[in-house]
Order: sequence, then C-alpha cells, then structure tokens
Amino acid sequence: TMQKTKTDYRGTYHFSPRQKWMNDPNGMVYFDGEYHLFFQHHPFGDTWGPMHWGHAVTRDLTNWEELPIALEPDEHGTIFSGSAVVDWSNTTGFFPDGPGLVAIFTHHSEREGVPTVQTQSLAYSRDKGRTWIKYEGNPVLKRADLPDFRDPKVFRHEPSGQWIMVVACGQIVSFYRSPDLKEWTWSSDFGQGIGSHDGVWECPDLFELHVDGDPAKSRWVLLVSIGDGGSGTEGSRTQYFTGDFDGSTFAPDEASRQVRWLDHGRDNYAGVSWSDIPDEDGRRLYLGWMSNWRYANQTPTDGWRGAMTIARELTMETANGVETLMQRPARELEAARVPVLELTDVALPELRQALKPLRLDSFELDVRAEAGRSFEFRLREGESCATPVGFDAEAGELYIDRRQSGECGFHADFAGYHAAKTVGGAADTRLRIFVDRSSVEVFENDGRLVMTDLIFPESGSDRLSVFADDENLIFRRVGIYRIAGSV
Ligand code: FRU
Repeated sequence: TMQKTKTDYRGTYHFSPRQKWMNDPNGMVYFDGEYHLFFQHHPFGDTWGPMHWGHAVTRDLTNWEELPIALEPDEHGTIFSGSAVVDWSNTTGFFPDGPGLVAIFTHHSEREGVPTVQTQSLAYSRDKGRTWIKYEGNPVLKRADLPDFRDPKVFRHEPSGQWIMVVACGQIVSFYRSPDLKEWTWSSDFGQGIGSHDGVWECPDLFELHVDGDPAKSRWVLLVSIGDGGSGTEGSRTQYFTGDFDGSTFAPDEASRQVRWLDHGRDNYAGVSWSDIPDEDGRRLYLGWMSNWRYANQTPTDGWRGAMTIARELTMETANGVETLMQRPARELEAARVPVLELTDVALPELRQALKPLRLDSFELDVRAEAGRSFEFRLREGESCATPVGFDAEAGELYIDRRQSGECGFHADFAGYHAAKTVGGAADTRLRIFVDRSSVEVFENDGRLVMTDLIFPESGSDRLSVFADDENLIFRRVGIYRIAGSV
C-alpha cells in the first residue's frame, strides 16, 4: 500500500523541540559560555497543555542542544513564562559557592470551581541550569486582585542597586523592585491609555539601548506582546514603546504615542532578550516564538510543534531621520554561512540562469538592488506552490505572499499577503532573507523593517526564482548561503 509520508518541516538552524509542543521562549540567560533557552513546553502532547519549562543551550546561536526538562508543575501550579538571571553577588543567599542561575516564573493554578490564580515564584540552579531547586518560600509575589498576572522579566538595575521586575497585569504592566529577588515592592504601572489594547498584555521586557552606538545617549525599550484580539486583528503580536526608566517609572517618549510593531509578519510572538550577555557595547540579543495563537495549535507538523526565530541583535538607530528599533540577524549567523552562490553586479537574465540549477530548502538569500526598484524572489517553489517575497517600489512596501505557499488549509486565517511600508532613506534595498523548512524571515536594510512568516511548502519545493518588471535591473550583489547548523 502507498503511504503518504509527512513533509519534514523541522528547521535546520532554528530551534524546535525534539518532540511535542512548544510556545514562548523563557529564562533566556547567558552564563559561562552558554546561551540558555528555556521554553513553554507540554511534554505529553503536541498542543498546548500543562506547562513545563523545556531547556536547550547553544554556544554559537545556530547549533542547539536540547537538555532534559528544567521545571515541572508542582503544588503551586503549572510553570508559565518568566526569565532567568545570574546572581553574581549572592543577593539571594542561594549561592555560597559562587554565582548561579535564578529563574523567576509564573505559577499558574487552575482548579475546578476555583478562580485561576497566577503568582510569581523562584527556582535556582547551582550547576549551570542542569538541575533546579524550587525556592521553599514560593510564591514570592501575589496579587489577589488580578486573574492575569504573569511573565515576570527581571534584570539588575545598577544605578539603584536593585533587581527590577516588569510583569504583565491584564492590559498594563507593573514594575516592582527587590534587593534579593524574594521581597518585592511595587513601584509603578504603565499602559493605561497608550499602545495597542487589542488583547491581553503578555511577556514584557525592558532594556536600555545606546542611540546610534553613542554610549552617552540611550533609550529604554519596553516590549509588550499582546494576545490574539480576534477578528479584525492579525492575531498575537509584539508592540514596543521607547522612553526613559529611572528604576521605578517608565516615561514614554513622543514616538510612543503611535503604536509600533516589532515585526510585520504574522509569526513572531512572546520574544524577549537574553540576560547577562557580556557587555560588548550594550549588546542585546533577542528571539521570539515563531507562531501565532490564532492557529498555533493547528500547524501541520508531525510529532512536534513550534519553533523559535533566529537570534537577532537589537539596536536603536536613526533611519531616515527617525529613531528606529532595528533587528539584525545575530552576527554569529554570518560566521555559519557556507557560500552556495555569490554574484556582484548581475543582470536579471544572468541571475535567472544562475538560480535554475539550485535546489535548496534551508538557506540565507542576501540581495542588494538599487533603491526604488521593484523585484521579487519566489522561495520554496514547487509543482503547485511558492512564496513570493519582494519589494514593491511603487507602494514602498516589503511583502511576503504566502497565499500559495503550500499547506494553508489548516486555518482560514493562515493564507495571506503580508505587506509593510519601509522606512526609506537607504542607498540600496538590501534584503537578508532567512529561509528554512517551514519559515521565512526577511530583514530589510539593517533590520529597520522585519517580517517573519511560517510556511508549509509541499515536499520537494526547493527551487528559487527571481522576477522584476524591468529586465534591465541589475543586482549589486546576490549571495546564497547554507547555514551550518543542526538541531
Ligand atoms: C504567551 C503566554 C504567556 C503565558 C504562556 C502560557 O504566549 O500566554 O502569557 O505565560 O503563554 O503558556
């Protein structure tokens, strides 16, 4: 009998769990040469269920090693999202023998006939995150008045010599402070009457970035993910605010009056940044969960479900006169490049010929064309599917068209044409397009505009082609690379 084999959608350089369900990245912290990635995990099912923290580590941001589950549900509830920090000077008393890791997470308790309770708790590790001890004083922070009180992100604030927590409370965030991660004092709230309130606020993050690389000039960035607001919205997505933070209050600047999105595709949610990255000029690394609550439980993968974006470097830079939160692929991904094709000043017909023999389902495409010119690449092209990605000069828009990208029928809102206006002002149009077995991430001109979309092409859809209205269009540069990584 004929057996229909399932398409292998597991990315080759993106992290996904070996088995079963994954959502948000959690507890991202750098310690002793390892980038830790914990994640919302349901180890007994491939849809969302009682949450655990799964665990993976990487040293180079492309090769991931999955480790045993870090945190399991207990008498206080299941383990929702949260963060981790290095306690360098034993403020907690957990580490008499040198620095260790502390996870600050939400305990979620849901029992028949009792209202849902969400509280904040601690666990610590003295062996580089391999084993964890839950703090006996859990929970460390409660709010009886709030059904939605979750996703604590904690960081060390040197000027005030304290730990700061930003935590989601319904449709605002609250800031707390603590000397030891155990005793928390409320400082302030933020969010009333500002930003998008299409859905519940989740997974906040707060950090400081230099402006245009100038250490004397800085801006605080507050990321807030918002849940699926239902019809008329794009599902779950992440907004950001800019302003100032003095250790107790976040003061938004003028630019924050307008709603700003971190990503203009559909599939980048609940992303936060790594804690304790060695301070090379204030480097800030980030990744998000590559899905959307609208259809996250239905995506057509087999035995596992959920993947993370590539690691991205966040900076604040002036682009076309506007201070912009930029996202570049982490530079480690450049070191992992293996060239497949590199051409300079290549005309359209010649490029078309060069792409013809290529068969690729996982690669980076790095293209540079003269500013103001339209062009389109069709990615993961097969018998009856393709994903056009391009720049529409007339509309001034970047787009990903996944209407015929492959399997789309699992949810009515999956198929679609996704476009966003570019900031403009760049000399060339440069697109770095990261394609993997089931995803596309497009970074326009140093990541001033980013779009992340899942796609599920039919197996064997591994051709790449190029189109433009103007046959005389010349690409200044085209590079195609494999990424030397494996999950
Ligand atoms: C965001 C979220 C968080 C919560 C977790 C539960 O995607 O809803 O607010 O902690 O997922 O898995």
